[in-house]
Amino acid sequence: MDVNLLRKQFPALAQTLGDHPLCYLDTAATSQKPLRVIEAIDSYYQNDNANVHRAAHQLSSRATNRYEAVRDSVQQFIGAQRREEIIFTHGTTEGINLIAHGLSSQIKAGSLILIDTAAHHANLVPWQMLAQRTGATIEAIALNETCRIDQAKFSAQLQRRPALVALSHVSNVLGTVNPIKQMAAQAKAVDAITIVDGAQAIAHMDIDVQDLGCDFYLFSGHKMYGPTGVGILYGQFDRLDSLTPLLTGGEMIKSVSFDNTEFAILPNRLEAGTPPISAVIGLGEAINFLQSLPQPQTRQHEAELLHYLQQSLLALGDITLYGAHADNLGAVAFNLANEHHQDVGILLDQQGIAVRCGHHCAMPLMQALQLKGCCRASIGVYTSTEDIDRFIAALGSVKDLLL
Ligand SMILES: Cc1ncc(COP(=O)(O)O)c(C=O)c1O
Repeated sequence: MDVNLLRKQFPALAQTLGDHPLCYLDTAATSQKPLRVIEAIDSYYQNDNANVHRAAHQLSSRATNRYEAVRDSVQQFIGAQRREEIIFTHGTTEGINLIAHGLSSQIKAGSLILIDTAAHHANLVPWQMLAQRTGATIEAIALNETCRIDQAKFSAQLQRRPALVALSHVSNVLGTVNPIKQMAAQAKAVDAITIVDGAQAIAHMDIDVQDLGCDFYLFSGHKMYGPTGVGILYGQFDRLDSLTPLLTGGEMIKSVSFDNTEFAILPNRLEAGTPPISAVIGLGEAINFLQSLPQPQTRQHEAELLHYLQQSLLALGDITLYGAHADNLGAVAFNLANEHHQDVGILLDQQGIAVRCGHHCAMPLMQALQLKGCCRASIGVYTSTEDIDRFIAALGSVKDLLL
């Protein structure tokens, strides 16, 4: 796989910051975008800009066709059974809020909601709000000393028949991968609804939602080489159909009178208002981009690179890695001795290295690790060995300065 050739498709990667070429190791926060995605959005605005589903004119039908074609692409991309199971949202956060609101009448006082300790706040706060509205109880799914989910404790929690199990597929901080297929099957056996946050998985592994067996799966376009402002909520048809719509108004109705409103069928029922049309079209092109990558070479490239990153950090010395495993995906969490993560991040930035520092929207995980925060380096298909070498050299100079 020729990474240098691939990088040419990403205009933002070619820039320099001061005297330093950009070394972008923050793909887990948002990926850079290939030119073809930018051009797809541009071509929609230049040629086909119109609202979808509404008008009799040709521009509108072109826009609608492009928009609805992406639903088919997503269905095929994640192996959903029906196109109506694909709901366009503005991102993972909105999708989870949509489910949490939509389930309000199904969750009762005393219901138990289990949440992955490593969950992003997007997969935690909406459940907390749901619990406050309904009187349900929240419990963390504990991690073991290697930062993986403690499966024995999880099995024991399931004996208490939770109503909901909220999991991350891949931790946005650690890069650890949860065995979703196995956990979803266990949850299903006790009639729990499984929600899987796939925001950090979708760009790094093949997803087949039917094989995973979860009820809901969510991801954001901007973490998979697509634009911001669009995401996917996948739900098994009956589960989706049972959600009370969070947003109501235009587009999601069948008939309206002053006395009553009859909602439309899926998927429109859950897509009120004008959707993010250009972003959906960009997402479609991002899927085309991902599907054009040579496999298994691309997956292998990312796996080797992540291993190289973990090993290079350890070789540098005075580094603590958190939850680093050989089968992790996309990200490495670390601290340099007792130095503040923010200081490390700022000093790296002065050398053109972009990493993320802080609590990574996972404060409960930080509490479990007894950390105020940490640094995270994350990779994408365009990350090169040279990126890792530059990062390690820069971190070495930060270490010399601070220690
Ligand atoms: C695991 C995970 N879940 C959810 C989110 C929230 O995604 P968005 O901000 O696109 O809604 C993120 C973003 O960082 C994430 O990494």
